[in-house]
Amino acid sequence: MNSLTITPRGSLRGTIHVPGDKSITHRALILSALGEGSATIRGYCRGQDCLNTLTALQQLGIFIQIETDQVQVSGKGLWGLTEPTEPLDCGNSGTGLRLLTGVLAGQQFFSVLTGDASLRSRPMGRIVKPLQQMGAHIQGRKGGELAPLAVTGSPLKGIDYLSPVSSAQIKSSVLLAGLFAEGETRFTEPLQSRDHTERMFRFLGIPFSTEGNTIRVTGRPSFQTKDLFVPGDLSAAAFFIVGASIVPDSEVRIPNIGLNPARTGILDILQQMGANIRIEKPREESGEPVGDLVVRTAQLRGISIGASQVPKTIDEFPIFCVAAAMAEGQTTVTGAEELRVKETDRIKAMATELQKLHVDIQETPDGFIVQGGSKIQGGRCTSYGDHRVAMAIAIAALTASSPTKIEDTDCIETSFPGFHDKLLELLTNSN
Ligand code: S3P
Repeated sequence: MNSLTITPRGSLRGTIHVPGDKSITHRALILSALGEGSATIRGYCRGQDCLNTLTALQQLGIFIQIETDQVQVSGKGLWGLTEPTEPLDCGNSGTGLRLLTGVLAGQQFFSVLTGDASLRSRPMGRIVKPLQQMGAHIQGRKGGELAPLAVTGSPLKGIDYLSPVSSAQIKSSVLLAGLFAEGETRFTEPLQSRDHTERMFRFLGIPFSTEGNTIRVTGRPSFQTKDLFVPGDLSAAAFFIVGASIVPDSEVRIPNIGLNPARTGILDILQQMGANIRIEKPREESGEPVGDLVVRTAQLRGISIGASQVPKTIDEFPIFCVAAAMAEGQTTVTGAEELRVKETDRIKAMATELQKLHVDIQETPDGFIVQGGSKIQGGRCTSYGDHRVAMAIAIAALTASSPTKIEDTDCIETSFPGFHDKLLELLTNSN
């Protein structure tokens, strides 16, 4: 198990290119496999989560040619997948497993999906239930609540599903299954989650409609693949956005970042806290808003975050806790209980680990209370195998009075290969 030692030294300065968006990469790979014709996906995320989805598609009979910055997927049309001879291992990725289960539910063959210990402990009933209502035959441990999931492909019918949770993974799983279903599938969620699937449907010409938080898709469309461009991942950029905000005398430029409004909660919140973030050259690429970010150090102020802001900030709470620790005054987060079922329980993990660095942070059932202005001290932390916890602690450690050792940092590879080198590069530029 690898570890990372972060020694605070100087400011963060320079330009950093972050990996392609993980959420968009999963969808680009899957939808290109299901379209007719071949597509080049540029800027894809080479993190292990997305590579696992890529391998799963290869096991399902899809030819994918891999190059450094792009992959070429030879789509076989909606009904072109073939039975895998081995279980599909999604590793650490909830998105990979939940989206692929949606695709496999309507096939005419048997498949098994599994993942690492973390993924095998995360709730799957949330997708199994609607997929079963569509006619899917899915079994898993604890009555279908836990992976491995065994899917005996079967004909599906559209349903009208009201999800109790706002989740793009549930929504996308059901909408992808809806592509294989007879009739119309309708999905409604309490608050809008990220809409990358819908935007890619639109870009590829797959008919669907939206009304409020309800999406309707009619099954069995045929569509052509199209070359796709994946922008940089805002969730990866967030570590450097917060880093540049809290480390004195920093200025970081992060070009080419996805700015989907269902994802930009962290930018809105940091700006309300007083952050100095400039968005340059806003544009659109493959149906997604994109821009360049320039971030300079600023004194942040505490803030209160409620349930309505949670879906568009969902992956940024670990690094947000670090911003809150360095802000003036108190920060509270409520309505974020979904954080307890991520790669690890992120409420518990962040409270426990930041306390080790002398941050005044308390967990609550659905969030945190952070008293800002802490003098962070170095220490020994663990990531619990969660990439975002590992990177958030690494950024907190930049402001500490002494070095911090973070255990179990291999997980950073799931979304951000090269994170540490990029961090060192920005630190070196300031010396
Ligand atoms: C994702 C949706 C979110 C997010 C995850 C990626 C996606 O999960 O936390 O990292 O790509 O659809 P939920 O749908 O469980 O909120």
